[in-house]
Amino acid sequence: MAKDHLWWQTGIIYQIYPRSFQDASGDGVGDLRGIISRLDHLQWLGVTAIWISPCFRSPMKDFGYDVSDYRDIDPLFGTLSDMDDLIAAAHERAIRVILDFVPNHTSDQHPWFSESRSSRDNPKRDWYIWRDAKPDGSPPNNWLANFGGIGWEWDEHTSQFYYHAFLKEQPDLNWRNPEVREAMLSVLRFWLDRGVDGFRVDVMYHLIKDEQLRDNPENPDWKEGAYPYSRLLAVYSQDQPEVHDVVREMRETFDEYDERVIIGEIYVPIPQLVKYYGTNNDGAHLPYNFQLLLQPWNARRIGAVIDEYEAALPDGAWPNWVLGNHDRPRVAGRVGRAQARVAAMLLLTLRGTPTLYYGDELGMDNVIIPPEKVVDPLGLTFRISRDPMRTPMQWDASPNGGFSAAGETWLPLSPDFAEHNVDAERDDAGSVLTLHRRLIHLRQSEATLMAGAYAPVHADGDVLAYTRRHDGDGFLVALNFGGHPQTVELDASLAGRVALSTHLDREGDAVSGSLALRPDEGVVIRLG
Ligand code: GLC
Repeated sequence: MAKDHLWWQTGIIYQIYPRSFQDASGDGVGDLRGIISRLDHLQWLGVTAIWISPCFRSPMKDFGYDVSDYRDIDPLFGTLSDMDDLIAAAHERAIRVILDFVPNHTSDQHPWFSESRSSRDNPKRDWYIWRDAKPDGSPPNNWLANFGGIGWEWDEHTSQFYYHAFLKEQPDLNWRNPEVREAMLSVLRFWLDRGVDGFRVDVMYHLIKDEQLRDNPENPDWKEGAYPYSRLLAVYSQDQPEVHDVVREMRETFDEYDERVIIGEIYVPIPQLVKYYGTNNDGAHLPYNFQLLLQPWNARRIGAVIDEYEAALPDGAWPNWVLGNHDRPRVAGRVGRAQARVAAMLLLTLRGTPTLYYGDELGMDNVIIPPEKVVDPLGLTFRISRDPMRTPMQWDASPNGGFSAAGETWLPLSPDFAEHNVDAERDDAGSVLTLHRRLIHLRQSEATLMAGAYAPVHADGDVLAYTRRHDGDGFLVALNFGGHPQTVELDASLAGRVALSTHLDREGDAVSGSLALRPDEGVVIRLG
């Protein structure tokens, strides 16, 4: 163990999309008791923390990212006492529990919004962002909603617009209002008091908007047919300087407790991203780094982005890497099944906390959802649905892949579930699941991989190579991002033995002078 590091630095986070992990109640939707029943799998896999996407009371317009009560579990997922049991059962297995905090917006069914919209002089009116129409009746500015159309909704009853960065059923809270801050920070305390180990904070970079609500400028690179929200550059509607004050207040709340983690969901370029660490270790512990999701899958590009990120990290900041989540196409679909193994090796050998998305350990792919089964609001408006990466976990070859006893599941399973599932891959020495488990166990048993320094090693073309070093120990990682054999020339200091190959063979082979990589192969070499 790297003893002077905290659990969220040395650990591996596993994201659970609760609708799709395990259904214990038999209604076709996953739930908390289902998660409890699968904790043994996660312990076997070796992950040390789970982050559960929102499971709070919600009308589910955005599948839980529209919360109507932050202090209760939605009946679809179970009860508060199920959550208490889940926390206890995870902790018994030394697995930490991270929940999902959605502070930018509530559901329009939240009692706060009902009050706010009831009259212009309601005490909670200012808890949301209300503005008059322009004299010609048009919205207060040109801001767009992420999920389509303009970001302003007209309220007939009080004759004003309210702002929503996502669906109109997700009105944005006004984080400039101190009462909002207090109310939301007390939600955090409610859960931290219950034993939750941390929060992933939804769209942290959206929390504060320009005080004058200035128009966003046009994006000169936007083309007809591209994602409509990108037509404007969100210069005034997100990533405002004052957001860092809010993050600092959240951090202060976390610091009232021992060793809790605050993770920010932030889609901004690296120079702005690292500002979310704060100025003096007073920001988010882990501003999520999505570069592996966003960059083209190319050894040179990925190498450059790792270097840029490593160089940009402020003193004392702990890095992190994400390869998949519930909003982005599955890695197996993006880079192909063979390269997904290389990607797993990259994720699990880089410096910084890795986050693994459920099912990626099986090589789950994006699943084609027939048009009549599309449920994601983004899919219904733009046809860029996130349903394909949210399909039920594939546990075994039984009906519904062991996910649910219901006749029909909320999203269909992948047609390949009988072949790609935990049961089939678990004891298969060459499976992608075995590769993940071996990588996780290697990382978790080696302080050098958990905490060692990162240094790039010169390589060309499709090969990315780097070392991790700590206390005199070292590993070399060499990854072939292409479908052709490659040879890497190594200087004398980089001799060693293969600890793991993505092909799950050649273990223990000596390596010195030059290293031959097969197509789509990555290797971890123990130096010395
Ligand atoms: C975040 C979530 C996404 C959700 C959106 C609105 O980006 O990851 O799933 O739709 O916020 O809450």
